[in-house]
Amino acid sequence: MATPAPSSTPNPAPLRPVVLGIESSCDESAVALVAADRTIIAQSIASQDEAHRPYGGVVPEIAARAHVEVLGPMVARVLADAGMTLADVDAIAATAGPGLIGGVMVGLVTAKALALAGDRPLIAINHLEGHALSPRLADAALAFPYLLLLASGGHCQILEVRGVGNYRRIATTIDDALGEAFDKTAKILGLGYPGGPAVERLALEADAGAVPLPRPLKGSEEPHFSFAGLKSAVLRAHESGLYRPADIAASFQQAALDCVLDRAARSLDLAGPVASLVVAGGVAANRALRGALERFAQDNGLDFVAPPLALCTDNAAMIAWAGQERLAAGLVAGEGDPLDFAARPRWPLDPDAQPARGAGVKA
Ligand code: KG4
Ligand code: ZN
Repeated sequence: MATPAPSSTPNPAPLRPVVLGIESSCDESAVALVAADRTIIAQSIASQDEAHRPYGGVVPEIAARAHVEVLGPMVARVLADAGMTLADVDAIAATAGPGLIGGVMVGLVTAKALALAGDRPLIAINHLEGHALSPRLADAALAFPYLLLLASGGHCQILEVRGVGNYRRIATTIDDALGEAFDKTAKILGLGYPGGPAVERLALEADAGAVPLPRPLKGSEEPHFSFAGLKSAVLRAHESGLYRPADIAASFQQAALDCVLDRAARSLDLAGPVASLVVAGGVAANRALRGALERFAQDNGLDFVAPPLALCTDNAAMIAWAGQERLAAGLVAGEGDPLDFAARPRWPLDPDAQPARGAGVKA
């Protein structure tokens, strides 16, 4: 939660509009107030890791119930921390998809109630748009268009971000997301949940060349990702008993990063001119990935931009910020989105993107 810096002078009035954002699409409940000048006035985030840990992954029903319990009080607390009431908020933005539908419905209905009570516009935000624009919350100088690697537990895409609401999907995964591959590797190695940070930590002091692992789709003409075969190879390596878990973790991470760099290079060939390479989504917290992408960007004459770690994983400031961007771009009609806006379990950022060949392997 944001703690105001001790100061004898009162905080300057936030630059209007002020947007309240709500995020509840997975296992983080989050609320944030963001001003037009990019100030995060106050925010709160509650992780449900403890509730899901015994199951080794997010249980949708448990997630939705937890959002119901915490979101209301969280809104009250964030407003109180900011010294504000609903009357000081200009719009209510909430994740309306894609995500676990029960949780999305809880956050969206909370936002609708606030919009109705405060007579404020509702802005229904695509969670992926929140991730895609979050680097611009941290970096005012980041201009469109940019190439974005969006890598989280549920998504793995490379997008050409041309403007607010204008996204061309270049690459997607035909099976697992990158974060999912980290999580499954962690599960195989008995590292617990969530897995990404645990795999990264274990890999730190190990030999990334110790275990021969495949690089699925590396070198392929199409720019897409595939990680299911890599995960199966990790399982076989572990069951063979020949390798230390740390060496498997390091070798897996190296193989995954090799794939990401190769797919990023192919995507860059297929994209229009861009000046920056941007990484977002939970896996952007991975330092090895950041380092590798930074070198890749340098080699290709691109600026490299990665949001601060707290803005990489799911949070509500990015949702409020996406609301700000949509308002500034004139994409929010006077009364905002209709109060019967439906929660969407699936919601592609690029509606024209064709399914990747080979996709749909997973249920
Ligand atoms: O964006 P996010 O918070 O939630 C989703 O929308 O999925 O991303 C969570 C994902 C998880 O799969 C988690 O294991 C992964 O991001 N992750 C990491 C790291 N930190 C989080 N993966 C690799 N290395 C990390 N340090
Ligand atoms: Zn996310």
